[in-house]
Amino acid sequence: MKRSKTSKSWMSEHVSDAYVKQAQIAGYRSRAAFKLIEANEKYQFLEKKMNVVDLGSAPGSWSQVLASLMDGNGNIFALDLLDMDPIKGVDFIQGDFREQRVLEILEKKLDKTHLDLVISDMAPNISGIKSADQAGIIYLNELALQFAVDWLKPKGNFLVKSFIGAEFDDYVREVKKYFETVYTFKPKSSRNRSSEIFVYGKSKI
Ligand SMILES: C[S@@+](CC[C@H](N)C(=O)[O-])C[C@H]1O[C@@H](n2cnc3c(N)ncnc32)[C@H](O)[C@@H]1O
Repeated sequence: MKRSKTSKSWMSEHVSDAYVKQAQIAGYRSRAAFKLIEANEKYQFLEKKMNVVDLGSAPGSWSQVLASLMDGNGNIFALDLLDMDPIKGVDFIQGDFREQRVLEILEKKLDKTHLDLVISDMAPNISGIKSADQAGIIYLNELALQFAVDWLKPKGNFLVKSFIGAEFDDYVREVKKYFETVYTFKPKSSRNRSSEIFVYGKSKI
């Protein structure tokens, strides 16, 4: 029997939810861990010793991946609107990245530490109003890019989560001004129904 569209999408959602189980087994706080792992398998930007900032870090699975790989080497700074349970080796700030005051707290912590990597999984709460949600994520993407441009070392790397929609192409064009090569990709661990897409800026100019 030919599968209906609904059962096909149910099946792919079911398969991608295998990531929830896998996350539980591996001890990750969220299935999002696999998006970072997949991105790194593709572009190889994680190192055993780095200075890295993780924006939109809660509940903490990306920071867990970093902390376990780095094992006390380098520095991991993480920031989120929401509180995050502590992770050994991760210096966490709770605050809204859109606020100047919060940016200044992070910059003060960094002191003169220039970064090898900035990763951002920040996403606003979905309101259901598509244009407002899209504008919200693009704004966070722009703030993350500005921060990355200011704080990355030359040749540093940038990974940011966005949504396909209005202004996404303009955003990618903007990222291309600052990085030698820019890729967009959707990890297998990202739910099919989601418009989420990642932008990877390799090697800051
Ligand atoms: C998809 S979750 C991140 C998951 C995380 N990467 C992990 O692996 O556990 C998106 C996060 O972005 C955060 N966020 C959204 N808007 C933010 C803002 N303006 N400032 C800081 N964090 C924000 C949310 O609170 C949420 O925890």
